[in-house]
Amino acid sequence: MYLRNSDIIKGYGISSGTASQWSNNAKEGKNNLTLVEVEGKQYIQDTPANHEELDRLYQLGRNKLKSDYKKEIIASKEFLSLFTDEQLIEFISDLGKYEINGKFGYFGNGANIWDKIYHEGNSRLQVLSLNVINKLMELLSVYLENKSYNVFDVGAGNGEPLFPFIHALNAKKQLNKYYSIDISKEMNELAKQNIEKEIGDNYGGYLTTDIEATTFSTYFYKNTPDSTNNIICFFGRTIGNISDRVRIFDNIAKGMTAKDLFVFNFSLDTKQNNQDLNKMKSNIQNELHSSLPELLGIEIDQKTFYTDFNPELNFKFKTFKATKEYQINFPVFNHTKKVHIPINTEITVWRAYTLDQKEIIDELDKAGLEVLSLTKDKTAQTAMIICRLK
Ligand SMILES: C[S@@+](CC[C@H](N)C(=O)[O-])C[C@H]1O[C@@H](n2cnc3c(N)ncnc32)[C@H](O)[C@@H]1O
Repeated sequence: MYLRNSDIIKGYGISSGTASQWSNNAKEGKNNLTLVEVEGKQYIQDTPANHEELDRLYQLGRNKLKSDYKKEIIASKEFLSLFTDEQLIEFISDLGKYEINGKFGYFGNGANIWDKIYHEGNSRLQVLSLNVINKLMELLSVYLENKSYNVFDVGAGNGEPLFPFIHALNAKKQLNKYYSIDISKEMNELAKQNIEKEIGDNYGGYLTTDIEATTFSTYFYKNTPDSTNNIICFFGRTIGNISDRVRIFDNIAKGMTAKDLFVFNFSLDTKQNNQDLNKMKSNIQNELHSSLPELLGIEIDQKTFYTDFNPELNFKFKTFKATKEYQINFPVFNHTKKVHIPINTEITVWRAYTLDQKEIIDELDKAGLEVLSLTKDKTAQTAMIICRLK
């Protein structure tokens, strides 16, 4: 009595490759299966001992498969050092809901990747920011008084988008100081290097803070002499990545005086913007969105990145799929916070809302800000608002 390969394949639900491997290993004495020769061919004998051995081999295979697709991680010191305590709690809580807030992606090496995106990508971004700045200069000649101004660059990135603007102010001897404000220390350091090279003594300094979590407008007060007005810039359409916009507007308004201006740009809620997902699918954008989870130890198969638009909630998003089951341990505050991620979970790494201009104007109004000007770029996809206190 003997067992055919097809019986074994069917009986254990295994591949023909695995069944042949078991037979070959038996021939080489690498397992305990015994063989019998029938008409010149060798088969696995149908004995109780062989059934027991087949069960053992099957279980061995399953355990191996499980361990290949299961990973336990302990967050490294390098990873933990990027966050403040509050940010770490936010990160851990978000990850428990299978989301990594895109704002953390600019930490560490993320800052260099953003800089690469700004310079490569055939710089759609540079063109966009130049258009914005040209328009800004045109408009500010209407709203700017003949006084000296501080420029506060909120979410400054590498600081470069504002170069033409601060040069223009400087040339008119109206630039007091430029300050960058960013969640990422590494991003601020890059802005500092770039801006110092560009304007030397007029570089005022930087504040590393999360504008969603702190009352950062005290920084305006601290750095504004009586003779100086402020222009608070928030470019890069970053307001679209913020979930509680009113809080940000409110926060900025609190630090403004009657002569100050707040200027920002945003992506409009248009069909074209909502369907335009390709720019977020590039390898370099994937690199930006992989950097932090990979530093944590999550392995990302680039093919699993997925970008789409959520029409009910009006945001574009990007996810990747966990190709393993993860148990992630964060050693914090003398104990370990644990996050479990099942295999095949979609993890969101980026979210961007496209915005209705009326809604934005209402939100500014709630924060005590009045719109002086709203302009759109040539393609009518991006808008820029200049406002001041009501
Ligand atoms: C899309 S980049 C734009 C950079 C630059 N303004 C430009 O126009 O090229 C967004 C920048 O905002 C920063 N950022 C994002 N969320 C932030 C937050 N909640 N608080 C402070 N900075 C934030 C990021 O670190 C990054 O430098």
